[in-house]
Amino acid sequence: MSTHNLSQLDGAMRPVTAPDIQAHKRSRGAEPLVCLTSYTTLTARLLDAHTDLMLVGDSLGMVLYGLETTVGVTLDMMIAHGQAVMRGARRSCVVVDMPFGTYQESPEMAFRNAARIMKEVGCAGVKFEGGIEMAPTVKFLTDRGIPVMGHVGLMPQSVNTAGGFKSRGRGDDDARRILADAHAIADAGAFAIVVEGVVEPVARTITEEINVPTIGIGASPACDGQILVTEDLVGLFQDFTPKFVKRYMDLGSGIAEAARLYAEDVRSGRFPQDEHCFGVTKPKDDN
Ligand code: KIV
Repeated sequence: MSTHNLSQLDGAMRPVTAPDIQAHKRSRGAEPLVCLTSYTTLTARLLDAHTDLMLVGDSLGMVLYGLETTVGVTLDMMIAHGQAVMRGARRSCVVVDMPFGTYQESPEMAFRNAARIMKEVGCAGVKFEGGIEMAPTVKFLTDRGIPVMGHVGLMPQSVNTAGGFKSRGRGDDDARRILADAHAIADAGAFAIVVEGVVEPVARTITEEINVPTIGIGASPACDGQILVTEDLVGLFQDFTPKFVKRYMDLGSGIAEAARLYAEDVRSGRFPQDEHCFGVTKPKDDN
């Protein structure tokens, strides 16, 4: 079977769209989708050439703002970071998370807030968490021109009812529930579904049974694509790395070491030197 990836898109530098992602199922010969979170222009510029999709995830509340959970993230925060990411993205499909409390109440409320994100950010689509209970909202938005990415399994916005960040799908009942959630969201018109913290057999079954790509995080290689939080991938956190994260470097230690060296230089007078100053003329060489 021949494989294709989204960097071969018409050989052209055009942004990857939600329908491009939707068509990208491994069972149809596609390579796994490469997805990462991005919250700033700088990161977007660095990641864009390597990713098919960049998610402006509400994980930014915990990663950038030091919140305990994502529940406190606001629509204005997501819009500001979405705009920043769009300034750095040329090619990747940019999707913005809808934060807690901006879509659960009614499809109409979800549409108003999603439309604000689409207009003010100019992104390719929105993502929100939820299963069967959110399917009518997915349909309401997609019927009205807003591409929606679903998110099932471990849903961080439900941390207060779930009692913590726990992996999902271990018992038969939970497995059936997650499978039904994924089917409902796919049938309602989502262009892809994030499957988070779900045991391999369940992630595999979902991927085999639904006709849109699954994007796994802690959900095995059975998924149609993978996503990680970029700050986890580069090792910005010193204390805790979740089991499903592969750390490709230890940027956190690198930053701390750079700060230590800088502090030493400033305190000892080794920085700044003449070459870092304006208006300092070098004495002429006598020879
Ligand atoms: O908020 C986020 O970053 C996410 C990803 C972890 C999938 O939802």
